[in-house]
Parts: sequence; structure tokens; C-alpha cells
Amino acid sequence: MKVDKKILEKYNIPVPRYTSYPPANHFKEGFAESEYVQFIEQSNNQEPNHIALYIHIPFCKKICFYCGCNACTIKEEQLIEEYIKALKKEIIKVFGSLDKNRKVSQIHYGGGTPNAIDVKYIEEINNLIFNEFSLIENPEIAIECNPAQLDYDYIDRLLGAKFNRFSLGIQDFNTEILKSVNRSPSALPVNEIVSYLKKKNPLVAVNLDFIYGLPGQNVDGFLKTINQAIKIKPDRLVTFSYAHVPWLKKHQIILEKKGLPSSELKMEMFLSARELLLESGYLPVGLDHYVLPKDELGQALNQNSLHRNFQGYCTKRTTGQVYAFGVSSISQLENGYAQNVKELDIYIETVNKGKFPVEKRMLLTKDQIIVRDIINELMCNNQLDLSKIAEKYQINIDAVEKITGFNENKLKNFISDDLMTFIDNKIEVSGKGSLFIRNIAATFDPEYIEQENKYSKTV
Ligand SMILES: C[S@@+](CC[C@H](N)C(=O)[O-])C[C@H]1O[C@@H](n2cnc3c(N)ncnc32)[C@H](O)[C@@H]1O
Ligand code: SF4
Repeated sequence: MKVDKKILEKYNIPVPRYTSYPPANHFKEGFAESEYVQFIEQSNNQEPNHIALYIHIPFCKKICFYCGCNACTIKEEQLIEEYIKALKKEIIKVFGSLDKNRKVSQIHYGGGTPNAIDVKYIEEINNLIFNEFSLIENPEIAIECNPAQLDYDYIDRLLGAKFNRFSLGIQDFNTEILKSVNRSPSALPVNEIVSYLKKKNPLVAVNLDFIYGLPGQNVDGFLKTINQAIKIKPDRLVTFSYAHVPWLKKHQIILEKKGLPSSELKMEMFLSARELLLESGYLPVGLDHYVLPKDELGQALNQNSLHRNFQGYCTKRTTGQVYAFGVSSISQLENGYAQNVKELDIYIETVNKGKFPVEKRMLLTKDQIIVRDIINELMCNNQLDLSKIAEKYQINIDAVEKITGFNENKLKNFISDDLMTFIDNKIEVSGKGSLFIRNIAATFDPEYIEQENKYSKTV
């Protein structure tokens, strides 16, 4: 698929990533203790009923210059111990308000680098969860790992703690590219890690993460990396577009000095990797995820039943309301969002005072719930039937238009550029259009204002 330079320039504008609606920069300060408890208690009676848990481990051995995550270097072991103690306290406090008859469908450890800390802490947290709640059949228990810090003992302990999905951050197989962004390569050959995991437990799934848009990357080099990845046959693979947000992450300025690839080159890397992955039998999910057809997400895609949360794509089976723990983490409940404080010391101090470390909130109005549904449908399934939305919420199409600020004129450019069709109130996004799905979704976001230095660009 070739994308015209003019189209690229036209749509390469700052747009929210829509990992949530409204995006996290709309969250408001303050959440009184009693309101927060009520917010959690109410979620017991809301859908989805399953519990998804997100645990944030912010520590890393060193900081990669491109990193956009909430991460910090490990300065002293004692801080990790204090953090884990606080994390467990927070979990116990929130669990006190959850209905014990609900089941856990998903646990996700993200970071930072969860495997940068002693595995005993992770075992302790999992045991705490397993003692309090029953799990659905085949829950997803996932962990993000930096393979630079992964060895077989650590992997065995994670398997023993019931992990069945491992995301390995590869970024690029070229060690020179990694070196220039302050990152160490995998300690063990990645193909051997994957074979080992599958031999130990054939039900384990592996994701590999890659980034395009780093200094020194080019099409040939990135294709070499993706070719190497395809040979390893991960169940899922993600090609993240490097999100350059130096106003939030000062260390990213170093990459500007090293020379960032142009948007055109980024698009070329993305498209050629996409072509190679599709030729090799991977199915595209959303903008940048690829899955083997036998993967649960591939099947959900065919049935238009994909879901999404801050942790990525999931299926109806494992979807739950997300209760998030740890510094900066965001809970995603049916009625809204709650975000924890972003500073490690304040997090620990607040929890140790016996308080919830919540800093921001976003309680959704009925209208915002409708907008969220519309944006999720577009982002996950590349289509939208406005009549179905109207029927689901028992309103008419005029009301949907009023709530979203949408009108047909806003779609004119997308239609004439072959990015989508709009017939009988139904949007079908084309293959080319799926690359600009964030732009299409923004037409249904009544609060979207195009602004530099607020969101990363589309490409
Ligand atoms: C928390 S990290 C994964 C675990 C581990 N810390 C690692 O680096 O391997 C999550 C993923 O986010 C992606 N990522 C981090 N910063 C990014 C950025 N600025 N733009 C796009 N993707 C980014 C990387 O691909 C990374 O693998
Ligand atoms: S990319 Fe991963 S290892 Fe690198 S700084 Fe970010 S969280 Fe840490």
C-alpha cells in the first residue's frame, strides 16, 4: 500500500491516541476519599463484571532516551522494598471495597520494567491476588519484560507464578541503534527465550514490541529486524510509532540532537513492515498490532468483538473493569477513570498514611459514555454504525450528532481521499484509512482541538 505524501502531510497532525476517552490530559485534580470508595463500590454492579488488575512497577536499570513511560532508575534496593509494601497496602485497601464473588479475568504488570526487581516481589503480589479472588478459566496473566534483564531462573519463577503472556521489549535487533538510545540488547537470544517459554508451557503466548522512528533507523534495517522477528513466530507483535513528546519527557531531546527520521521515512518503515507481516500470515489488529490467526485477538477481530484498555487490546472474554495499582496508574471503570499520583515518594507517603494515592479523576457523563463507545468501536473494529449506537442508547441519530459534535461535512475529506465510506449512517474505514483512524475518531470527539505540544502526531 502506497500512501501519497500529500495525504501524509494532510493528516499528520497532533491527535489523541485514544487509549482512553476522554484522554488522560482531560482528567481533573482531586478525588475525596469517600467519593473514591463510592466509585469503586458502584463498579461492583456495573459491566463488565470481571476484574482486570494493572500493577505498575516503575523501576528500570537505566532510562532509554526514547522512553515515554512513567519510569525511573533504581537507586537503592530499599526504595523498591518500600514501594512494594505500599503497593500491597493499596491493593488490600481497594480489595476491601470489591465484591469477592467477582472473578479476575486479567492481570497485567507494566512499567517501567517489572522484571528489573527481585521476582519474589512479583510472586508475593500474585499470591495476594490469588488468595483474595478466584480467576476465570484461562485468565490472561501478563508481564512486560525487558529481555536485557531476563534469565532462565527468572522466567521459571514467573511461570511458577502463573504468568501466561510475556511481552518482550525488543525495539530493534540492531545493537547499534539500541546503543544510541541508551538501551542494552537481550541477554539471551530472543528465539531461545521464546522456545524455552513454549516448551515449558505450550499455552504461553509471547508478544514482541518494536519501535520505528528512532535515530539511525531506516527501511532496510527495520525490515531486517521484522524479518528476524517473524522467524521467531511471536503470537503477537507490535510496531510502535516513536511518540516524541519532549515537553513531557525531557530526555527525549537527546534524540533530536542525534537526528530523528522524517515523517515520510517513518511512514515508509511502518508500511513496509506492515506489508512484510501481512505477507507472512499475520493479521493486523488496530493500527500497529499484528497477531497470528490462531490468536484469540485474531478471532475476535473477525467477529468484531475486540476491546481495548490502557494495557492494549483484549477480547470480550477477558475484558474487565480495570483496577490499577502503583504510581501514576489509571483505573478504567465503567463510570470513569481514576489516576494515582505520579511521584514515587508522594505515592509511598500517602499510602503509608492509610490514604488512597489517587490524584485525578474523570467521572463520565452519559454523553461521554456514548462518545467513548463510538471511539472504541472505530479504534478497534474500523467501522461504526450510527444507527446501532442510537438504538443501543435509545436516542435518535440527531441526538448522537449533537452529543459528538459530528456532522457529515467533517467526513468529506476522508471520503474523497479514499480513507472511508459513509453509507446509510455506516462508516467503513479502508485499509489506508486505518492508518489515520485517530484522525477519523477525533471527528466524534466534541472536545478535540488540534494543538501542537499536546498530543503526539498521527505518524
Ligand atoms: C514499559 S515498556 C516495556 C517493558 C520494558 N520496560 C522494556 O522496555 O522492554 C512498554 C513499551 O512501550 C514502548 N515505548 C516506550 N516509549 C515509547 C515512545 N516514546 N513511543 C512509542 N513507544 C514507546 C516500547 O516499545 C516498550 O516496549
Ligand atoms: S523503554 Fe522500558 S526499559 Fe527503557 S526506560 Fe522505558 S520502561 Fe525502562
